Amino acid sequence: MSGNPSLVIAIDGPAASGKSTVAKRLASELGIVFVSSGGMYRAFTWWVLENGVDPARTGDVEALLEKTEFQCGEQDNIGTIAVNGQLLSREQLANEAVNGGVSLVAAIPSVRSRLVDEQRAYAKERGVVMEGRDIGSVVFPDTSNKFYIDASPEVREQRRRAEGIDDSIAARDKMDSNRKASPLVIPEDATVVDSSDLSIEEVVEKVKKSLVS
Ligand code: CDP
Repeated sequence: MSGNPSLVIAIDGPAASGKSTVAKRLASELGIVFVSSGGMYRAFTWWVLENGVDPARTGDVEALLEKTEFQCGEQDNIGTIAVNGQLLSREQLANEAVNGGVSLVAAIPSVRSRLVDEQRAYAKERGVVMEGRDIGSVVFPDTSNKFYIDASPEVREQRRRAEGIDDSIAARDKMDSNRKASPLVIPEDATVVDSSDLSIEEVVEKVKKSLVS
């Protein structure tokens, strides 16, 4: 299925707000591709750590970026990213070291600009549901379909713990919201959905009701 090339759905929100599950479900119902932009920042962060580079040393990260090729594609309607030919597993992308370094790496403007180009390329030929922090504000500012999925800090911490993942989401949220380059913001024209007391199905329904084709 080629999907509707003009349908670009931007879903932003803080860590563990449920945006990824909602975005995936929505993409599958609509038959369009699902892309986790956070997965892209995570993939490069994994590569940074694999090369023994300290994520806090911006110059070293940038030097590595210049030598790095990304191969973005899709498999079964899900966006994939390989770093210098290597596809990474979910475990590699969500490990503790990556959780600890990703917000530092994602705050570097040259890293963002490389990955934003890749993110925009997905929407050139087909419809896409993309989730992240700056999808409605920076990556696809012209789309009419912008959503911001939120949940209380307690509910988000609890969700991550239930996944058995050691993740300092409060620290990441603070860094993501306070950085200079493309901070996490609620786009002015976004529909905000608080998922604290809603099931995934209820959030998906709310988003679907607000979609503009
Ligand atoms: O799944 P979770 O919401 O915890 O995180 P993620 O979407 O996998 O994103 C991991 C990290 O990548 C975030 O904490 C941000 O630092 C960064 N990120 C970003 O800067 N911009 C995006 N569009 C997506 C993620």
